[in-house]
Amino acid sequence: MTQEKTWSQRFEGSLHPAIAEFNASIGFDIELIEYDITGSIAHAQMLAKTGIILPEEGEQIVAGLEEIRQEYRSGRFNPTIDAEDVHFAVERRLTEIIGDVGKKLHTARSRNDQVGTDTRLYLRHQIREIRRLLREFQTALLDLAEPNLETLIPGYTHLQRAQPLSLAHHLLAYFEMAQRDWERLGDVYQRVDICPLGSGALAGTTFPIDRHYTAELLGFSKVYANSLDGVSDRDFAIEFLAAASIIMMHLSRLCEEVILWASEEFRFVTLKDSCATGSSIMPQKKNPDVPELVRGKTGRVFGHLQALLVLMKGLPLAYNKDLQEDKEALFDAVKTVKTSVQAMTILLQEGMEFRSQRLAAAVTEDFSNATDVADYLAKKGVPFREAYNLVGKVVKTSLAAGKLLKDLSLAEWQELHPAFDADIYEAIAPRQVVAARNSYGGTGFAQVQTALQNSRALLGS
Ligand code: ARG
Repeated sequence: MTQEKTWSQRFEGSLHPAIAEFNASIGFDIELIEYDITGSIAHAQMLAKTGIILPEEGEQIVAGLEEIRQEYRSGRFNPTIDAEDVHFAVERRLTEIIGDVGKKLHTARSRNDQVGTDTRLYLRHQIREIRRLLREFQTALLDLAEPNLETLIPGYTHLQRAQPLSLAHHLLAYFEMAQRDWERLGDVYQRVDICPLGSGALAGTTFPIDRHYTAELLGFSKVYANSLDGVSDRDFAIEFLAAASIIMMHLSRLCEEVILWASEEFRFVTLKDSCATGSSIMPQKKNPDVPELVRGKTGRVFGHLQALLVLMKGLPLAYNKDLQEDKEALFDAVKTVKTSVQAMTILLQEGMEFRSQRLAAAVTEDFSNATDVADYLAKKGVPFREAYNLVGKVVKTSLAAGKLLKDLSLAEWQELHPAFDADIYEAIAPRQVVAARNSYGGTGFAQVQTALQNSRALLGS
């Protein structure tokens, strides 16, 4: 198949078909088409404003580009690999629609500053979308936390029972992580929101362009001050992938907990049919596919971050074709983060149910109130380390006797230390153990109640 060459007449032969396919990015950068059209419209308007092209030429170009947008949206524009990439595809179609005037669009521009602009426009939009989805995830966490202020759940360190918690407090920990994720994306946005258009291929242009005007039309807050930097850095994409990786890392930790909680060993949650699947061979199984998949997809996003860092580290200034490889990483990361946040939101909203009876029983069946015995003595003047050692001893003897701390008689307590009184039983009851941790940010109900209110206020609902 011979094709009209997309680049200059300097070339005599045509590309080997396999190389043409290898070189082409249209298979994936079609994702950028709307941003490419928007960027080109701003460029054409700037060319007209500065007198580089005639006003009516600018208008024709803009109208032609809008027509391509409509063709694409209605499924009538499907460029194939002979167009090489989305930028050539749009330019070629423009010339088909409006004739030779279309050939003026690329004046004072290179695909290098063009693709940089498209990618930033795309990412700005996606960051706004992901932040919106994070807000929905936070809302789901809060909706689940609010009715569970006084539901108790064992708290762990080293995956060993440590101290009981308010379930709301546990869920709000993820709310806080998501809040930082949301803020972090806002920070990244500032570095994505810089316009490279007008950097040309690498050195700027001989035309009297107005870069600030194009940036303003496209809603960018700044323009790149250095043309080489503008066309060749991808720090904004790396920063986005780092923020995306952190979001996935946070989700993955929640996933791991849900998977544990749904196991027969924990039995803290029941998975609902809407978010669980069965086994093809074991009829009794109900599998936590959603959290497992999100946990699994986390590795993909980490991989994209790594790929882009490695892609960049050896690149001399300015543009190198290696940079074409940034797109699939970004697109896949964006899709993975969006669908994962969404899936986790649904899981929280309707995919699982906490087993309150089982949770209530769980917090009474261990030694997670041992610290409270030590605190009890310390409040009566016994130095904490001494109290700690005494309680360690009583845990050991109780374990040997098959007893829990609540089973000890007052005489046994007093034998251990005369400071013990009948109020020890109240002090080590799970509800009291949780309520008493009323230090700022702790699990005490009063603290968590305030945290719930603050979180609700933060969401503005
Ligand atoms: N498809 C290319 C990319 O994604 C567009 C820029 C091409 N520039 C060039 N000088 N070959 O990076």
